[in-house]
Amino acid sequence: MQQVKLIVSNWKMNLGNKKAARLVNNIKKLKNVHPNYKNIICPQFLLIPHISNLVNKSSVLLGAQDCHYQKEGAYTGDTSIELLKENKCKYIIVGHSERRQYHKENDSIIRKKVDLVLSKKIKPIVCVGELLKERQSKRYVRIIKNQLDICIPKNLNNIVIAYEPVWSIGTGLVPSLKEINEIYQLTKIFLQKSKKIHNFYFLYGGSVNSKNFKEIIENTSVDGALIGGASLKFSEMKKILTNS
Ligand code: PGA
Repeated sequence: MQQVKLIVSNWKMNLGNKKAARLVNNIKKLKNVHPNYKNIICPQFLLIPHISNLVNKSSVLLGAQDCHYQKEGAYTGDTSIELLKENKCKYIIVGHSERRQYHKENDSIIRKKVDLVLSKKIKPIVCVGELLKERQSKRYVRIIKNQLDICIPKNLNNIVIAYEPVWSIGTGLVPSLKEINEIYQLTKIFLQKSKKIHNFYFLYGGSVNSKNFKEIIENTSVDGALIGGASLKFSEMKKILTNS
């Protein structure tokens, strides 16, 4: 378990220029942010240059929600890693279940993205997690191990894994603390044995809010959270970032 906790805001396809700027400015002014918390904000692509300027020289770090697996080229509608790097993105979410579902991304595409992101010295936040039917039929262990196996290269230090059960995203349903710890344990053992990875960050994501965040961060082995809906609300982020 790492001492530093990563608090990652995934704004998804939300917020316009003004609302985004207001939220970031309020977050920048926050006093008493927990000293061990790294605050990472992942806006939609068009907001990135604006938010990049706003967070410049502050403790807030910028991330992106995706990137293409090729450096550049004829990929209409996609965004290149070069441009994200130019705009000072330090993290990139890769393999979010909404990309898997709506953009048909599979584990091998995700692996290509992970490799490209790492080659550019940016940190991928690799999402794994099972569907409801996979949990109910007790196939989730196999599913998650398989995702880790394909998406994660060997011998890496400090890779960021976000466990996001698909049935928990945006639903208000959250796994028990025991269930989160079970996935942490299996991830740890799998990464050690199969990937020779001994240090990693394990985030939980799915219906995180200020109330359950405190419970999860204090009572499980997680190294932070990937937060969707609640990350759009300053009142929620204030409580989360100050652990109050
Ligand atoms: P949620 O989304 O917090 O709104 O459930 C989390 C995510 O999809 O990363």
